[in-house]
Amino acid sequence: MPLLFKKNDSSKGEPARVAVDDRLRHIAFILDGNGRWAKKRGLPREYGHSEGAQTFKRIVRYCGDIGIKIVTVYAFSTENWSRPKNEVDRIVSLLDEYIAGAERELEENKIRYTFLGDKSVFAAPMAERMTRLEQISSGYELRLNIALNYGSRAEIVRACRELAESGEEINERTLSDHLYTAGCPDPDLIVRTANERRLSNFLLWQAAYSELYFTPTLWPDMQPADVDAAVRDFYARERRFGGVTPK
Ligand code: IPE
Ligand code: IPE
Ligand code: MG
Repeated sequence: MPLLFKKNDSSKGEPARVAVDDRLRHIAFILDGNGRWAKKRGLPREYGHSEGAQTFKRIVRYCGDIGIKIVTVYAFSTENWSRPKNEVDRIVSLLDEYIAGAERELEENKIRYTFLGDKSVFAAPMAERMTRLEQISSGYELRLNIALNYGSRAEIVRACRELAESGEEINERTLSDHLYTAGCPDPDLIVRTANERRLSNFLLWQAAYSELYFTPTLWPDMQPADVDAAVRDFYARERRFGGVTPK
């Protein structure tokens, strides 16, 4: 089994960098710990979200660099609306700025964006930016799914309702085709930062056989080396999907 460790310039003493094959096509991140990162520094939680937005760009770029074809990030859940208004406003405005920037830099970054979640709750200009970004980026190969106003239970209920209304046969494939992730393979690896070990209503259907990786690193501190560690851990695992390993 080939193990995929690319050597960078070893003469400079840089650590080996990982690269991936199609066993790891899709990585998902539950980004967590922005608030704790700020609190540790005596700053309001909003600062953690600003820093987290920078980390988001850095980590997505790095995942593309090492050959991961699909990245999904859980950026804002349906439950996160219950946070204080100033915090919610800051997160939403950071995401809106990110989306506008993604459109400006589309030709440079060559990323296909998909938003997971109900866009209609956002102000019309933001919702339109989201839809436009999905449309104009649809030809690119490298995929970034951003879960925004996302909740997995609501996603599954919505899919069931659509199937019931259309009269289509209900099976695993048709249900998958009515999720926000339609057409996208399930995540091979889900990484959650900040020492929490739960899915918090993220990709409950799609995570059926995902490998889970938890790290104490707070999201704003997340570095390429932390992604490398998660990838190495993934490649050390045996995925059996309920079968047995041939001797
Ligand atoms: C993740 O960081 C960002 C979102 C959930 C929007 P948190 O804001 O949850 O950070 P902690 O968990 O309070 O540290
Ligand atoms: C999960 O993080 C949601 C996102 C990453 C967007 P939370 O911080 O909201 O989750 P809980 O409350 O710890 O489960
Ligand atoms: Mg949290």
